[in-house]
Amino acid sequence: DARELDGLGALVRAVPDYPTPGVTFRDITPLLADAVAFNGAVDSLADLVAHHGPVDTVAGMEARGFVLGAALAVRLGVGFVPLRKAGKLPPPVESVTYDLEYGSATLEVRTGTVSPGSRVLIVDDVLATGGTAAAAVSLVGACGGDVVGAAFLLELDGLGGRDALSGLVVDSLLTVG
Ligand code: PRP
Ligand code: HPA
Repeated sequence: DARELDGLGALVRAVPDYPTPGVTFRDITPLLADAVAFNGAVDSLADLVAHHGPVDTVAGMEARGFVLGAALAVRLGVGFVPLRKAGKLPPPVESVTYDLEYGSATLEVRTGTVSPGSRVLIVDDVLATGGTAAAAVSLVGACGGDVVGAAFLLELDGLGGRDALSGLVVDSLLTVG
């Protein structure tokens, strides 16, 4: 409910001018460190994505997407596919480079870990510009997976993330402006 979400939001710390001047970084580590909040957030995310019906796999982006994605995969009773930063996975891999709110990065997935035709839910901690999630969508698609949607703990409003993911069903537990 709303009070529970307020409680979760209170555990997200706003850090001005990090990692670069002008960026207000939202730090979710206090929320993750709180047993009740972390469990509640994962339960609430599971409720939030239930409208998709059954999914086969959760795909999460390194590094913070691993924490929430793996927890949600366990809660949903499905497997987890890590989408990793460049150079961490042995070949063969699919690879995509994208821009971030601060810098750029490359994500890779092990070829063959996403089954063709499987229903894949993309999960990350934060939706900012949407660059990371768009890269995840294209990676999963390149493997033949069917991306049913993307789910985030926290959406940063005003950075265009939703627009960058037009056509994709996006669910966010918390939103900050
Ligand atoms: C952060 C965050 C998301 C992404 C959101 O990850 O965890 O993955 O940025 O930004 P975007 O919507 O503008 O793409 P980051 O790349 O900083 O890596 P980390 O998880 O390893 O800290
Ligand atoms: N907080 C956490 N992760 C992020 C942010 C932020 O403000 N922007 C892009 N990724």
